Amino acid sequence: MIREGRLVWGGCDAAGLAERFGTPLYVIDEALVREKIAELRRSFLDRWSDTQAVYAGKAFLPLAMCALVASEGLGLDMVSGGEIHAARAAGFPMERGYFHGNSKTEAELEFALDAGVGRIVVDGIMELDLLRSIAERKGRPADILIRVAPGVDAHTHKYVITGHTGSKFGVPLTDDSLARSVELCMSSKGLRLHGFHFHVGSQIRENTSHLLAVDILMEHMNELRKILGFETKELNVGGGFGVAYLPDERTPDIASFTDPLMERIGVGCAEFGMPRPKVIIEPGRWLVSEAGITLYRVTTVKKIPGIVTHVGVDGGMTDNPRPALYGAKYSALLAERADAPSGGKVSIVGKCCESGDILAEGVELPEPRRGDILAVLNTGAYTFSMANNYNMTPRPAVIFVRDGKVDVVVQRQTYDDLIRGQSIPDFVSGRNPAGPASL
Ligand code: LLP
Repeated sequence: MIREGRLVWGGCDAAGLAERFGTPLYVIDEALVREKIAELRRSFLDRWSDTQAVYAGKAFLPLAMCALVASEGLGLDMVSGGEIHAARAAGFPMERGYFHGNSKTEAELEFALDAGVGRIVVDGIMELDLLRSIAERKGRPADILIRVAPGVDAHTHKYVITGHTGSKFGVPLTDDSLARSVELCMSSKGLRLHGFHFHVGSQIRENTSHLLAVDILMEHMNELRKILGFETKELNVGGGFGVAYLPDERTPDIASFTDPLMERIGVGCAEFGMPRPKVIIEPGRWLVSEAGITLYRVTTVKKIPGIVTHVGVDGGMTDNPRPALYGAKYSALLAERADAPSGGKVSIVGKCCESGDILAEGVELPEPRRGDILAVLNTGAYTFSMANNYNMTPRPAVIFVRDGKVDVVVQRQTYDDLIRGQSIPDFVSGRNPAGPASL
């Protein structure tokens, strides 16, 4: 929100936050996240019985976010041993957890089972066999869903489609793998199969690919029931619900996905004479992206007359690799002159040694000056979680704000954090003339 020309986030003056906590800085309005969850509740959970919403932690998972999600009664999608560890450390109720991933290690499967994660979403027949042997050895059955690749092309960037034919994710439907997987589950004491999962991709703003995938799944559910007598109790339709990154775009209501999905499932079940399974959705970006902004300080302004004006900031592809990876677009403004007239179009560039380190191009800004605080909007999802230390750049702090209150939820990394755990062998430094001990 803009108040007297200044950007205010969660009731706090953005430039004041930058001054107090330093830059770059991720700022999340906690109340906005809770508003999104309230919309989920109104439009989906309360409207349709036997449904569940699971937050996809890969979008943004500090311990504080785990705690927020836990307090709202949502489930949590985790995709690595590290995410399970974080959720446990935050006291997340593991029975509401889903463990995903296409290349899980044996250690991660054991960890998930021991931690009591509610559902392990098995990605292929080899993993199924491995999990079966682990579960039988431990005498602790695994509650699972099988992830299916429905063979649907979603309308989004090619790096974030996941449900297409030939995808690395899920059991393909192009042969009999699914029936063999279900048979394996039905014959094993170690595996309790509850149903299926698919995820068509990310940043999708129309519902067609989700609907197509549901239709395909329903056909298979019906086949499996007829051939093997397996009844699907749970259907997890993944996430992927997109948001508006640019002013002329619109973030779809969650109901524009979930209403047609639920109707389709209802009609399909009636047609096939199957009871409706519990339906689970897994939004990540939709839930947290718009609540977040990143604040930077302008370090330099370089005008190349007639060509471009580069506005250099003190962060870049290390705190937000999405523009470099996917050509993602963002909008930005100056926090202290948010409604001043535009001085023309500029490129906002990061500080990494890469020409591709451009956060946003063609952005209209008031005449930028060194020291200005620049806010990039809609950065709550897939920025902090994808941040890296390229060029030995410390990761920014994350703060939560709410109604004028503020707290640090992740400390800024220090230069010492960057070299922690490193050492110089004697044979490199030459400090021990006797040489290294040989093996
Ligand atoms: N469920 C599963 C199994 C997923 O793989 C994902 C995302 C989600 C749910 C949540 O998707 P969302 O609602 O956030 O779109 N780094 C990329 C996005 C990768 C998404 C991977 N999977 C980006 O920055 O655009």
